[in-house]
Amino acid sequence: MQQAEALRTRLNHHLHRYHVLDDPEIADAEYDALFDQLHALEQAHPELRSEDSPTQRVGAPALSEFAKVTHVLPMLSLDKSTSAQDIDDWVKRCLGRLPGETQISYTCEPKIDGVAVALTYENGVLVQAATRGDGQIGENILANVRTIGAIPLTLIGEGFPNKFEVRGEIYIALDDFDAFNKRALEKGSKPLINPRNGAAGSLRQLDSKITASRPLTMFCYSLGWSEGDWVPESQMQVLESLQGWGFRVNPLVEVVTDSKGCMDYIDNILEQRSRLGYEIDGVVVKVNSLEQQSILGAVTRKPRWAIAYKYPAEEATTQLLNVEFQVGRTGAITPVARLAPVFVGGVTVTNATLHNMDEIARLGLHVGDRVMIRRAGDVIPQVASVILSQRPGDARAIELPTQCPSCNSAIVRLDDEVVARCSANRNHCPAQRKECLRHFASRLAFDVDGLGDKIIEQLVAEDLVKNSADLFKLDAAQISGLERMGEKSAKNLLQALEKSKQTTFPRFIYSLGIREVGEATALSLAQHFRTLDGLQGATHEALEVVDDVGPVVADSLYHYFQDEENLAVIEQLVALGVQWPEMPVVDAQALPLAGEVWVLTGTLETLARNAAKAFLLALGAKVAGSVSAKTTKVVAGPGAGSKLEKAQQLGLTVLEEKDLITLLKEHGIDVSD
Ligand code: IVH
Repeated sequence: MQQAEALRTRLNHHLHRYHVLDDPEIADAEYDALFDQLHALEQAHPELRSEDSPTQRVGAPALSEFAKVTHVLPMLSLDKSTSAQDIDDWVKRCLGRLPGETQISYTCEPKIDGVAVALTYENGVLVQAATRGDGQIGENILANVRTIGAIPLTLIGEGFPNKFEVRGEIYIALDDFDAFNKRALEKGSKPLINPRNGAAGSLRQLDSKITASRPLTMFCYSLGWSEGDWVPESQMQVLESLQGWGFRVNPLVEVVTDSKGCMDYIDNILEQRSRLGYEIDGVVVKVNSLEQQSILGAVTRKPRWAIAYKYPAEEATTQLLNVEFQVGRTGAITPVARLAPVFVGGVTVTNATLHNMDEIARLGLHVGDRVMIRRAGDVIPQVASVILSQRPGDARAIELPTQCPSCNSAIVRLDDEVVARCSANRNHCPAQRKECLRHFASRLAFDVDGLGDKIIEQLVAEDLVKNSADLFKLDAAQISGLERMGEKSAKNLLQALEKSKQTTFPRFIYSLGIREVGEATALSLAQHFRTLDGLQGATHEALEVVDDVGPVVADSLYHYFQDEENLAVIEQLVALGVQWPEMPVVDAQALPLAGEVWVLTGTLETLARNAAKAFLLALGAKVAGSVSAKTTKVVAGPGAGSKLEKAQQLGLTVLEEKDLITLLKEHGIDVSD
């Protein structure tokens, strides 16, 4: 008996460390061993079993339906606000109803986008878990909720009321969502549509074994009601007590004292939104004092003491009007969705990238479909899914064109490539030529001021420019003859072109637009070979020695420098005066990050991961795949998981991507666009 009880206490302690505090003290395998031990003991001695045992989290037989529960206190909804003015008005209304008060305090909390539940505890044991339902009557989903590791079956600490109700939001964290879907796809089972929908669907399962397989967690955000003599004074005190009893509470809750404080919090959380690791749809502001809350009361199912500030939705539905095929610099054909204008993520979106034909097949997309558009943070809008139930009768399948929309050459798709390409080379395909010139003139390449898309388009259309070297052969008369170009702008452009001839070796390599060679690889190549002759003459093997150059990149470089036309353009560029200072001989020990070991984890939103790695290598750091005592710094993006936790445990410096970008800039690598 004692041994079983001791094991249960230990297991519950570790569940709390893992799911609530995000700070495990033992490895998963050690937990499993303890769990197996308790399980064996309970099997051998059924009389030792108890309802609140961690082994009983998945034990209930499947239900035929959920029992209805009437909420002791209704589960209310919240008034919404979307502007500083709304918040200011609400603060004034609260103060107006609280005689004698001129300044009160408010809690500000992230508004978690999940499923609301109410948990009832009796003598410290979870006895009921109810959905919101219509606010008055919900459903008892206890068996499902018991499977969620972050929810205590038995409370810890002291002083909790004999009977009380805790409310909060059950949700799926983004990295767990991605990992779950990845596994589902590998196994050939159905992925979850989105985290919110996944959480709701998981809680609706009549068989709690299914719920147990879903990565659910919970943030608790309020007290429903309580019996006994515990009378908390404020929302903040409630949250602190809940945390002490083993509940998971959002660490970002803050107390502020006026509407400006509310707005600062709202702006700050919006800025962090894409890095939180879970979805939120806004902020909830609550009057902190519970006494003041009860004075303010509620009207028509909404409390006067709280308000939701809604952020712009990151998802919206619209119609796919057409799919167009764009031709890139290397001939890659990219399908682009043309959409009926829709407001999402704070902007009006009319286009979304579809990446490639495989993506279209994965989505099962037809022209005319109603689609879910997603635009999170500053990320390019994506088509997230197709709403099949609303497919119109005349929806049309999307086919890859057989001919290049720019030059009519055949479009080919090599067996091992996802990307389809125009089979002509850049000299014969105007779209490719335009994109090459755009790339050549762009900020991280030759940075030619005033050479915009419109001018490039005309230069190509009128056949004045066939390749980048031709840009430096233009004269004032040719330029001023273009639409919307006068003598003055022609002179400015010629000056900008002249100025751009003074460049650097990495920029020069990057400007060539070689497939797979981004600015980071260009930098590694420049540092390694130091001269154009060295780079041009490099063998496949010699190229692969460079940090961050694998067989594919080496192949691409090798073929580029085998092409007579490419070599002729390079020769002309140099003959026309393009030049760069000699690359210094690098003393590895003298590099700014020499001796440092960095780890990149989570999603990087601005830099490609291999680019971030190459830049760090160029500055002398090593980049490792896992966190250890040898690690110097960790860059963590959204969705960072165990590596970030380990880094925090070890007390390492953890940077955000923007800190890395600043650091690169300090060392002369400018990647902001
Ligand atoms: S307090 C009186 N706090 O938002 C209503 N709600 O309309 C008390 N939600 O579905 C709600 N995060 O489940 C509160 N920190 C938070 C919240 C939160 C998410 C959800 C809640 C409800 C909706 C409110």
